[in-house]
Amino acid sequence: MAFTLGPRAKAAGYRLAAFDSIGSTNAEALSRAREGERGPMWFVTSEQTAGRGRRHRPWIAPRGNLACSILEIIDVSPAVAATLGFAAGLALEAALQRVGMEASARSAGSDDMKFSLKWPNDVLAGQQKLAGILLEAEAMPGERLAVVVGIGINVVEAPQATPTPATSLKAIGIDVGAEELFAILSEMWTEFRDLWDRGHGFGEIRRRWLERAAGLGQPVAVHTGGSTVAGTFDTIDDTGCMIVRTPSGERIPISAGDVYFGSAASAGAA
Ligand code: BTN
Repeated sequence: MAFTLGPRAKAAGYRLAAFDSIGSTNAEALSRAREGERGPMWFVTSEQTAGRGRRHRPWIAPRGNLACSILEIIDVSPAVAATLGFAAGLALEAALQRVGMEASARSAGSDDMKFSLKWPNDVLAGQQKLAGILLEAEAMPGERLAVVVGIGINVVEAPQATPTPATSLKAIGIDVGAEELFAILSEMWTEFRDLWDRGHGFGEIRRRWLERAAGLGQPVAVHTGGSTVAGTFDTIDDTGCMIVRTPSGERIPISAGDVYFGSAASAGAA
């Protein structure tokens, strides 16, 4: 089976570049933007050899997993562009719900697959990481931004020994190919990108994201470069910052960091 876009993505003007294997779909999208590509365009592969993760970590995507990036050229500020990651999280969660429902219908099971969104934009199955999102942006001529939303999903295999334990769709009983999942994701992206509406729809995106948030109201420790903020995960604000309420009642906004919940929050805070 080959990678194809869903009908709604095609109708919305998205184009597709599919690769048998590539270093990084994010790197490819940014390099095309520098060469004049104006999108919107998807870059997809089922094998990435130099994948990039958040906070300069590598992202391991062996053959059979899904690695894809969307290139959008938009005239919004970098701060507004950053909120697109929450739309991507919702699109990804919706695509995973769809394949989860189809898998349980096929196996005549009644299990409702539950996924949650971990700030800033991971998708968890239970407590384990199933997918991650990396947003990268570069200024283009004419005050426009090239925004690349990179999405990696563990379809057949999860990396070992990661900071957050990881799982794959196969390991949780969802037997789907990267190609089928990609077509659904392209549809969901089109829907949530429209809802995001150059940041004007972030209020609704934020509301839906919070409904699916992992660890809301729970103890949390966030590593932000050199320091750790520990407290309770209160909410996300209207710029997408995580708000942590400390034991003294202070509400601290956090724009980037690694998040630990539950017992890992105490370990992480140490
Ligand atoms: C994370 O660290 O959780 C984010 C991982 C993002 C990985 C995806 S795979 C497709 C795209 N290309 C990359 O090089 N990275 C992103």
